[in-house]
Amino acid sequence: MDREFRYTQKDFNRARAFLLQLTGIKLADSKDSLVYSRLVPRLRKLQLEDVRRYVDYLEQHPEEEEHFINALTTNLTSFFREPHHFDILSEFIQRGEVVNRVWCAASSTGEEPYSIAMTLVNVAGGFASSAQVIASDIDSNVLRHASDGIYPLEKVNPLNNKKLFFKRGVGVNAGKARVCAQLRKLLEFQKINLLDEEYPVKAGLDVIFCRNVMIYFDKDTQEKILLKLLSKLRTGGLYIAGHSENFSHFSHLMKPIGRTAYIKL
Ligand SMILES: C[S@@+](CC[C@H](N)C(=O)[O-])C[C@H]1O[C@@H](n2cnc3c(N)ncnc32)[C@H](O)[C@@H]1O
Repeated sequence: MDREFRYTQKDFNRARAFLLQLTGIKLADSKDSLVYSRLVPRLRKLQLEDVRRYVDYLEQHPEEEEHFINALTTNLTSFFREPHHFDILSEFIQRGEVVNRVWCAASSTGEEPYSIAMTLVNVAGGFASSAQVIASDIDSNVLRHASDGIYPLEKVNPLNNKKLFFKRGVGVNAGKARVCAQLRKLLEFQKINLLDEEYPVKAGLDVIFCRNVMIYFDKDTQEKILLKLLSKLRTGGLYIAGHSENFSHFSHLMKPIGRTAYIKL
């Protein structure tokens, strides 16, 4: 393949081994072109001649790790993705469960934690709720985007109650909408690597959403992360996983209550 920068199988293997070590993300052999295209902007920025030199640079400059991680994470998300999970959250509260603290781990650009916050406000019938949603991700770029809370109108227009939760942009912000201050206030942002031994989150959470990130980790890593997450959830708390992340083999620790939704025992 004709490429602007020299890129060998060995460069790909070194880059993916480093990514695995930093994030737990395990890239398949088929991702070699993806890795190249995501790293090219860094090579240009650093004026490096080829991918081998980039990986050498990365190994010698810890400050490059953040850019490397940001370049290689996949951040696909949307408002009310897998909508049944937000119904499960509403029903959980309507059954009388108190929800004060929610953690949305791997929250990407914010659509998921804002959907959680909108659900809490909708169930409470207004902004009176003092609930707090912790939104965390390993990728500092997506966290910044989430914290800004600005989205294209195409993403916001299909939402119910959009007038309550968003302000339409004007002038240079035409075509975009910003999350209103009252909704934004319910969120708190933290950079957290799920691979870390200790999570800087107080235990006793009422709900954890950790969706569509475990799929990037091997089974052993998934189980370790699940146990650490569960240690932060109160007994009777709600754990929501992504559609292809099934934890039915953990039935001694959590009881399934719907599609990839569980109650901690
Ligand atoms: C596909 S997105 C899923 C976003 C959202 N949870 C959803 O379901 O719509 C996966 C997210 O996981 C994050 N991620 C990947 N590895 C991570 C890690 N080790 N710790 C924390 N977040 C990680 C990525 O940066 C990305 O934003």
